[in-house]
Amino acid sequence: MDRVQRSATGPQLEDQSPGPLTQDAVQQLIQRAQEAKQRAYCPYSGFRVGAALLTRDDRVVTGCNVENACYNLGVCAERNAIAKAVSQGCRSFRAIAVASDLEQQFISPCGGCRQFIREFGSNWDVYLSKPDGSYLKMSVDELLPVSFGPEDLSMKKWFTHEDKA
Ligand code: THU
Repeated sequence: MDRVQRSATGPQLEDQSPGPLTQDAVQQLIQRAQEAKQRAYCPYSGFRVGAALLTRDDRVVTGCNVENACYNLGVCAERNAIAKAVSQGCRSFRAIAVASDLEQQFISPCGGCRQFIREFGSNWDVYLSKPDGSYLKMSVDELLPVSFGPEDLSMKKWFTHEDKA
């Protein structure tokens, strides 16, 4: 887990090569999440969330939360972004940034979104941000340890514990 304060320099999107993102690239991704947050449709909660996904082929796909009068049909920003990306042919991701209006804490993906994110791998990065651009970097595996994913359905995992059932 890394906590990083926003740097004074402006963001640039050039650094999209494999490997860790530069601070500038992270800040640009957070900025895209903040822009997406402005488009949140959240008349019921008033809680705006934006997400920005960086794909392995260097595309950025954003999403915001979209609520509904039938409350349980609301969609979170992270899931919206992932569904958009998949519908555009992207299933391979480097990072996702999440933004909200919470000034005192890093916005943390809900449990459902953690599972949705994990579907596309447990070894990529999630940037939990604050409106000032500071962030907390966590891996998907840190957010959802000992997770259940697509690999489990192909029964590759086997219990070594005596209680296997
Ligand atoms: N929300 C998200 O979009 N992402 C999260 O990870 C947390 C919660 C949304 C759902 C709902 O529209 C509002 O925030 C309040 O829960």
